[in-house]
Amino acid sequence: MKETGKIWMNGKLVPFKDAKVHVLTHALHYSTSVFEGIRCYNTPKGSAVFRLQEHVDRFFKSAKLYSMKMQFSKKEISSAILKTVKTSGLKECYIRPLAYYGYGTMGLTPTQNKVDVSIACWEWTMGEGKAGKFSGAKCKVSSWIKIDSRSQPMQAKAAPNYSNAALARVEALENGYDEAIMLNFQGKVVEGSAENIFVVKDDIIQTPPLSAGLLEGITRDSVIQIIEENGGFVIERDLDRDDLYSADEIFMTGTAAEVKSVTQVDKVKVGNAKMGKITKALQKSFTNVVMGKDERFLPWLTFI
Ligand SMILES: Cc1ncc(COP(=O)(O)O)c(C=O)c1O
Repeated sequence: MKETGKIWMNGKLVPFKDAKVHVLTHALHYSTSVFEGIRCYNTPKGSAVFRLQEHVDRFFKSAKLYSMKMQFSKKEISSAILKTVKTSGLKECYIRPLAYYGYGTMGLTPTQNKVDVSIACWEWTMGEGKAGKFSGAKCKVSSWIKIDSRSQPMQAKAAPNYSNAALARVEALENGYDEAIMLNFQGKVVEGSAENIFVVKDDIIQTPPLSAGLLEGITRDSVIQIIEENGGFVIERDLDRDDLYSADEIFMTGTAAEVKSVTQVDKVKVGNAKMGKITKALQKSFTNVVMGKDERFLPWLTFI
């Protein structure tokens, strides 16, 4: 981690290295936090945050699902995000807003403690980043079942969801794969450990519905809108493991992953084991959109 600029903590910008919390912070013990992952891109017209409004909306939705009382408004958080990026001097970065039950009373009940909010950003350059962006990821169907909304709100981007996701990710990596694909309790495909998933068969693009238990990804929505704006369509339907093995193309979407190709699932090659033409075209369209080169989607960019 390259420490650059400052981190916003409850309204104050503090030096990166001083952005610390007490070891008895509630969220550290009980996973009582929600967060966001946002990107700022260095476009030819200047640095711009991608879909800021939608990320801030999801941040507040996540907090609401956990009955967390935010001491800041959406407007305050949006301007704090822009201020943090500006102060960092970074032209391109990843931004991490976090709301968590802080230090105060210890014990399971979180509500006596204040909800602290922080915003950090750090350097993030476009490129291969995670395995599979250009070369194609090898994915393992996880033996860990995706937790679902019978246990906790899955529409929240909340820390407690990620112990399940991290187990799946680690299992995949330890078995020589790049990423995990998670199934739900009904055996239907949900998503990757931190990405949504799309399957292409006979030129039909399909993705699991929200009811499968996935996070409503902002990149997922962006990609669907890009496809539709270009005259195509996406079918939302429950996907089986068979659909993965018989797919012509598979790609994953996420703020970090952007649009990344999947070329192998378990020991089965996807299509000809190379990035497919639809995935490639979408990667290009998505890059044009985030870089402000597609006028139709300029409203998705908030320039710093
Ligand atoms: C579990 C999960 N699914 C999907 C996504 C993709 O969401 P987004 O496109 O909003 O980054 C993420 C990443 O935030 C995630 O953690």
